Amino acid sequence: MFEQLATPKGDPILSLIAEYRNDPRENKIDLGIGVYRNDAGITPVMQAVHDAEALLLANQTTKAYQGLTGDEAFNEEILKLVLTESQCKRAIALQTPGASGALRMIADLIAVTAPGSTVWISDPSYINHRPIMEKAGLTVKTYPYLNAETRLVNEPAMLATLESLGPKDVVLLHGCCHNPSGADISLDSWHRIAELATKNGFLPFIDIAYQGLGDSLEADAQGLQVLADAVEEMVISTSCSKNFGLYRDRTGAAIILSKNKQIASNARAKMCELSRGSYSMPPAHGAAIVHAILTSESLTKSWRDELDAMNRRVNGLRSALVKAFREKTQTERFDYFGQHKGMFSLTGLSDDIIAELKHNHGIYIVGGGRVNVAGLKESEIDTLVEAFIAAGA
Ligand code: LMR
Repeated sequence: MFEQLATPKGDPILSLIAEYRNDPRENKIDLGIGVYRNDAGITPVMQAVHDAEALLLANQTTKAYQGLTGDEAFNEEILKLVLTESQCKRAIALQTPGASGALRMIADLIAVTAPGSTVWISDPSYINHRPIMEKAGLTVKTYPYLNAETRLVNEPAMLATLESLGPKDVVLLHGCCHNPSGADISLDSWHRIAELATKNGFLPFIDIAYQGLGDSLEADAQGLQVLADAVEEMVISTSCSKNFGLYRDRTGAAIILSKNKQIASNARAKMCELSRGSYSMPPAHGAAIVHAILTSESLTKSWRDELDAMNRRVNGLRSALVKAFREKTQTERFDYFGQHKGMFSLTGLSDDIIAELKHNHGIYIVGGGRVNVAGLKESEIDTLVEAFIAAGA
């Protein structure tokens, strides 16, 4: 049966993990997959997560099934993290295996509720957006996003395309810390998108996988909340991979905001029916940790403080990159590193330069030129800048 299958190409982000691991060079630098690392190059288990796990170990009395909706206390808490108090009253969350699970459940929900819908993703967008949407049977088109010169959002072009969309369209936006570009939508444009969604009737679909890694937990959700105030219906995928550092525990949520809680609950029940036909129930561990942290004042404080410190480190690296590039090139052409938010910056480097950086300098960057700034050590900045210039960046 399976001999007819060709060897698949492999995911461009995930295949870099193995390539990097097998590279024997000691001074290699991994700027591939989106994980935060501290200055020792380690992706730490956050202290609040350690403490919550200790509590779980001491107090957990059963591993019996939780049911299709997962941990309901987690669902409640995650809603409060993303939406305002009044928005929570007409919204509901479903625990999912990571944000990818949420993206897929929402895509499946759209496909069964409104077949023939087109999902509009930014150009460029997260590598996995298109495959997830297409595998759910949805048509995918792109709206312009990045200004290739400034490396910032081309808001007039983006808004002009959104202006032409209507009720059969779904617009997938990154809530903050755009992946892969790092270029975020201004608050003014979020207001404009809200007006367009209300006037033209397209469904906003927000992927907020990096909340807390841009400016702060609150500021990063502001754009999304502007939209949620304006529209009757909206869908959101969110992740605890980055802001809680729970990557491998696959902890995320799909959120439905609707006219009222009952309609949102019906949509969630539909997603449960769909998940029953694939992974059935989400894994418990990560959600139990998040639940324990967000329902304890002291653990919440510890978590927020550590998240803020992570944020400061990444923003410090961004400033240091700008300074080093200015000194080395006597130009401001790399200033975009300081204007971007979150873990990534899209450099727009050519495939040849990316290959040269890997082969000659042991620097691993995702195809298309996405650099994971959050994976860099302070001590690696000069090496990186020199390698970029030597490779012709
Ligand atoms: C990334 O973009 O590097 C992460 O979101 C990891 C992933 O699942 O692709």
